Amino acid sequence: MRDLIGIEDFSKEEIDELIEISKDIMDNKEKYSEMCKGKILATLFFEPSTRTRLSFESAMLSLGGSILGFSNANSSSTSKGESLADTITVVSGYSDIIAMRHPKEGAPLVASMHSNVPIINAGDGGHNHPTQTLLDLLTISKEKGHIDNLTVGLCGDLKYGRTVHSLVTALSLYSNVKFVFISPEELKMPEYINEILDKKNIEYVETNNLEGSIPELDILYMTRIQRERFTDVEEYERLKDVYILDKKKLDNAKEDLSILHPLPRVNEIAVEVDDDKRRAAYFRQAENGRYMRMAIILKLLDEKNLNYEYKHLNDAIESNNCKCENSMCITSIERGLKQLAVKCNDNKLRCIFCDHEIK
Ligand code: NCD
Repeated sequence: MRDLIGIEDFSKEEIDELIEISKDIMDNKEKYSEMCKGKILATLFFEPSTRTRLSFESAMLSLGGSILGFSNANSSSTSKGESLADTITVVSGYSDIIAMRHPKEGAPLVASMHSNVPIINAGDGGHNHPTQTLLDLLTISKEKGHIDNLTVGLCGDLKYGRTVHSLVTALSLYSNVKFVFISPEELKMPEYINEILDKKNIEYVETNNLEGSIPELDILYMTRIQRERFTDVEEYERLKDVYILDKKKLDNAKEDLSILHPLPRVNEIAVEVDDDKRRAAYFRQAENGRYMRMAIILKLLDEKNLNYEYKHLNDAIESNNCKCENSMCITSIERGLKQLAVKCNDNKLRCIFCDHEIK
């Protein structure tokens, strides 16, 4: 079964193909309007969402398929104490493909171990958000005409922001992409993402200075400070408005800078920036999500992919003695789940579900 758990599930060629298919869908909507007739998408959202869930549902309906699901864990049997494994085993009997969002990191990987139908990760805690990344890449390709040779600034909550983790991983597949990571010290990019870049000798700068970084950027990807992931409310209050992009800060930006944001925004992009139609690409970006998600559904339901060799657990070893200590990891709540890990270059063990180091 072919799943989309992390962006690394797709090769660069497949990502480029998805971008081309999305563009073709935009130009020829009618051609695709019955391609999923008789198929059912389940959207299981254990965590709030507007764009991701609705664009998935809109995507399946635009393909002629049907949808079912829930948008709130309280209205599912999770609230009665049902395990994720049991929920997925049951729902995979009711649907042909499942898109799920969960507050715990690694939950979609656990789901894929119990599902008879493809699982799409629509966001797992502060970990990954691969479908957002695919629509971000589609947006970059449409706005700039290419994805190679760009200087990309990512600003805000790089620690808990799952979209930036998947985006940086994907952009590392393209040529000559330079990164500027703009965040306060407390919200820096996790080590395991920097390690991906280090391994490939890809240039990145870490700074807390948004204004000083703007002039060199081709893309500025703003993110929300992720209030729901903070354990310390005071820390959130201190950091919440640390970056606010306004018109004045854009004075020294390139004319053809593209400003992206996965949305929802809080204060990090002033509303006045919306008037800068050419550079403010975030609402076009959200619309692109519908077409990219149509392409993703088509790809995962393609017959060729149903016998796909499952790669995720290939390098996994059972870690009998050590357990993942990340309280945000699915291993902290799911009963009967074996601790699986992968060995990294320097002999570190990383939890296969959340990528945190196991000590
Ligand atoms: C993002 C998410 O859920 O991670 N939103 C989205 O999917 N468009 C970003 C966020 O919530 O800040």
